Amino acid sequence: MGISIGMVGLGAFGPSFVNLFKLHPKVDRVALCDLDPDKLSTRSKQFQISETYNSLDEIIKTDIDALVIITQHWMHAPQAIKAMKAGKHVYTAVPAAYSLEECDQLVETVKSTGQIYMNGETSFFYPSVAFCRKKASEGVFGKFVYSEGEYFHDLSHGLIQVCQHRYGKNWKHNTGLPPFWYITHSTSGIISVTGARMTEVSAKGYVDTEHDEWWRKDTATGNLFSNEVGLFRMSDGGTARIAEFRRIGHPGTVRFRFFGTEGSFEADVSGARWCHKKGWEPVEPTMQHEPLPEPLASNLGGHQGSHAYLVHEFVDSIVNERHPRINVWQAVRYCAPGLIAHKSALKDGETMKIPDWGSAPS
Ligand SMILES: NC(=O)c1ccc[n+]([C@@H]2O[C@H](COP(=O)([O-])OP(=O)(O)OC[C@H]3O[C@@H](n4cnc5c(N)ncnc54)[C@H](O)[C@@H]3O)[C@@H](O)[C@H]2O)c1
Repeated sequence: MGISIGMVGLGAFGPSFVNLFKLHPKVDRVALCDLDPDKLSTRSKQFQISETYNSLDEIIKTDIDALVIITQHWMHAPQAIKAMKAGKHVYTAVPAAYSLEECDQLVETVKSTGQIYMNGETSFFYPSVAFCRKKASEGVFGKFVYSEGEYFHDLSHGLIQVCQHRYGKNWKHNTGLPPFWYITHSTSGIISVTGARMTEVSAKGYVDTEHDEWWRKDTATGNLFSNEVGLFRMSDGGTARIAEFRRIGHPGTVRFRFFGTEGSFEADVSGARWCHKKGWEPVEPTMQHEPLPEPLASNLGGHQGSHAYLVHEFVDSIVNERHPRINVWQAVRYCAPGLIAHKSALKDGETMKIPDWGSAPS
């Protein structure tokens, strides 16, 4: 018998996962849930799913095994905690948490409830990141000396609309979020490839004086930085640089460079390269980087095919009663560095320590 899944949050992003859960061979029941009755009825018809619920509070009272929470970004940790305490396994979209206190509470809830928790970080399963994890496992990087991760997403590329639909009528009060509060696309690649964590950071922010209608003192966060960049010390002695830019003349990207004592990986708009001391060769990281059950293997979905891998990782971890690779301890390692880096940028680069919650028990 398969497991049952409740999809909570059917806004812009949540629906792209519904069919993948429906298709997974170990899932035999999918229910839908949203506060908005119009979204619920539209998606119920689209996906031919008749079991629907009007709120998280309603669906956590059912016998459904696991909830996939793809609600607004500041709701993830409190909703995940509530659902785990009600006996549900939980997957949330990124970021896992929005404060260090939420990181504490999430880890404690996983420990005290024993429920499975996974964070849906798409970059973890990007072809280039999977390619580099494999190279790292083969030892061909040598020791990691330096890595780079960057997420470029200009304000004009849909971010205004995202703010409007996530915050509703209060959207103007909620513009200009600190870019480092959404750092996980960059940190997940670096941490999962190097196997090291970020221990301290010195960061700087860029104030775009011509666009102060977005980054303003009178918003909920009062953040003025459209772009933030940080230099991180890694626990293996290496360093990493992360750039989170929201005001940039660029089509947009999530990309990485990794430099080791024996080999390196570089990628830019012209392609990807594996480099070593004698030269370099072009490489093409594949979207088929891990086995997946059919029909998911033939239906990888969005964000460079990462959606199908995320779905399978969550389902498989529940079925086999194991912690997923993006478990709670990893998830807080992905978001806490950004929370501290923003504080460092506010102090013009003061070096600050990054807390750690340890690793998943084996
Ligand atoms: N690459 C990625 O990893 C990636 C890409 C896009 C979005 N996201 C994340 O996905 C999340 C959702 O983004 P979105 O653009 O779809 O947001 P959205 O505002 O369009 O959708 C959120 C939905 O959640 C519903 N909701 C909120 N509280 C609820 C509750 N208590 N019960 C039931 N439903 C509830 C809302 O009614 C809304 O329909 C965000 O947190 C974002 O960070 C991640």
